[in-house]
Amino acid sequence: MKELICFAHRGASGHEPENTLAAVEKAIALRADWIEVDVYAVAGELIVIHDERLERTTNGAGYVRDASLSYLRSLDAGKGQRIPTLREVFDSVDGRAGINVELKGPKTAGLAVSLIEEYVRERLWNYEQFIVSSFSRRQLRKVRKLNPQIRLGILIDRPRRRYAIFARRYHAYSVHAQINIASARFIAHAHERGLKVFVYTVNSPEDIDRLRALGVDGIFTDFPELIVSR
Ligand code: G3P
Ligand code: CA
Repeated sequence: MKELICFAHRGASGHEPENTLAAVEKAIALRADWIEVDVYAVAGELIVIHDERLERTTNGAGYVRDASLSYLRSLDAGKGQRIPTLREVFDSVDGRAGINVELKGPKTAGLAVSLIEEYVRERLWNYEQFIVSSFSRRQLRKVRKLNPQIRLGILIDRPRRRYAIFARRYHAYSVHAQINIASARFIAHAHERGLKVFVYTVNSPEDIDRLRALGVDGIFTDFPELIVSR
């Protein structure tokens, strides 16, 4: 059976605080192929956090978009970890895994493209080491307009087929599907269109085996060892 690509979801978030450098390091230690992180734009910087508010994952309060960079950087994101910038994540990964940047908020596309271009140009990384994904078609369109070489991943959580029109028009690389919609039909439909199928978020061995048998290309998991060891 074909190899499943392992995406460490928010880093190895089953082991370390999600979207922190500790979770990134743990994912690499567990031999994840890719690290997935979520980003928002704050004062011209991409910061790595999942929610639009701070309460669930940090000791801060309020909306991420209303906070200053210095306030965000003063917070504890769990076990004494700071909220990292995307640049810190790139430096921490340092070519040891691919990086899937999920654009969560407005004005993230241009900043993500600039950062990726910088690492390709100045650090000699390859475009194949990045995937930029989003639920926001607007942010994905911007990425594609700014750079035709960056791999785009379309996130979907409902069984709609319209994503395929967008995928063809904007030359998407992959579709990132919520586990409940990853049926055999859905997977075949995406594969027929030349898209890789990556499924989130899969934390049980039974689901991993089932999805592998269905032919998905990769899985997002909080526990990378579940995939790597199977
Ligand atoms: O990128 C896959 C997955 O992370 C999307 O959902 O809510 O975990 O960001 P969420
Ligand atoms: Ca995500």
